[in-house]
Amino acid sequence: MNPCIPLLLLLPAAAAVLAPPAGKVVVVLLGPPGGGKGTQAEFITKKYGLPPISTGELLRAEVEQATPLGRRIQGVMAKGELVSDEIVNALVEQRISQPDAARGFILDGYPRTVEQARFLDTLLPRKGFPRPVVIVLKAPVEAIVSRLASRGRADDKPEVVRERIAVYERQTAPLIEYYTGAGRHDIDGLGTPEEVFARIDRVLAPKAGR
Ligand code: AP5
Repeated sequence: MNPCIPLLLLLPAAAAVLAPPAGKVVVVLLGPPGGGKGTQAEFITKKYGLPPISTGELLRAEVEQATPLGRRIQGVMAKGELVSDEIVNALVEQRISQPDAARGFILDGYPRTVEQARFLDTLLPRKGFPRPVVIVLKAPVEAIVSRLASRGRADDKPEVVRERIAVYERQTAPLIEYYTGAGRHDIDGLGTPEEVFARIDRVLAPKAGR
């Protein structure tokens, strides 16, 4: 018997394991505080029907409901620092396991550290999702500061915004290098929200088969 035959017979099974799950899309929105992640997540949801998953929102909900976890993280968030990787990873794993996320989802504000990105790299295949499409929203500090000054969230006070920007530079900006290569797209975050979305849409449409 041709010694190649057993190998050939195995190939379809191997291909099925290696191929990314069809029809699912995971979008990671990376960018500084006030960079427009939440705003663009809404646009993407409207067009592509993927649920937005904002770790900031998940954490704020814990604080508002005064859960034991909420009481632990309230002070950390008020200072503009990052909540621990362990807590955030567990929240994300729980959220992406919900039925509405079965076709994919948009991660807004996660991952935010290299540790979180490594966790996501193992979580996605374990849950049957493909590698993420990483969108990096680029916006200069002046634009961020003036956007957040007019919003007025609890952590939008100027001294907390300064800390959030410093934390971003120190802990989250290195992720841009982590995602260098396939799957990362740098997007100019200046302009109207519609203009920014048009840039993102040019990246997503072919990946989502639109
Ligand atoms: P999070 O809620 O994620 O806040 P953030 O990253 O600081 O981002 P923002 O929500 O301020 O900005 P955004 O980029 O979403 O912009 P948005 O669209 O809202 O995190 C808050 C805290 O939670 C963190 O500090 C940390 O403590 C904790 N946390 C969250 N995730 C964590 C994680 N993974 N690990 C550990 N800790 C975590 O826009 C901002 C404003 O600008 C809005 O008013 C909007 O209307 C306006 N705007 C948006 N786009 C435009 C535009 N193109 N032109 C003009 N204005 C615009």
